[in-house]
Amino acid sequence: MEVYDNLTILQALLQEDIHIPHLCYDIRLERSNGNCGLCVVTLISPDGERDVKACQTPIKEGMVICTNSAKLENYRKIRLEQLLSDHNADCVAPCVMTCPANIDI
Ligand code: FES
Repeated sequence: MEVYDNLTILQALLQEDIHIPHLCYDIRLERSNGNCGLCVVTLISPDGERDVKACQTPIKEGMVICTNSAKLENYRKIRLEQLLSDHNADCVAPCVMTCPANIDI
């Protein structure tokens, strides 16, 4: 696919209507804080595979990106469980600064 310059992998995927989980990125934010970890994808190269956060990684020409695999799905489940285990809707508004998704509740 062809995308504009200076996009992250996540922005490029969304531009192409390819959706992966992403809690702390929102188009209204200048930049995600990269805390949720749900947007992880696997970069595949001749040197091997490497998992990266799609919202923090600039997209580059020639990248081969896996967005869905059993390993990624398992990682996302574990990461979501970690997020939910200590975040029981107990925010005191405005909590945009501490919310992992940067949402002004
Ligand atoms: S959307 Fe990438 S770490 Fe949260």
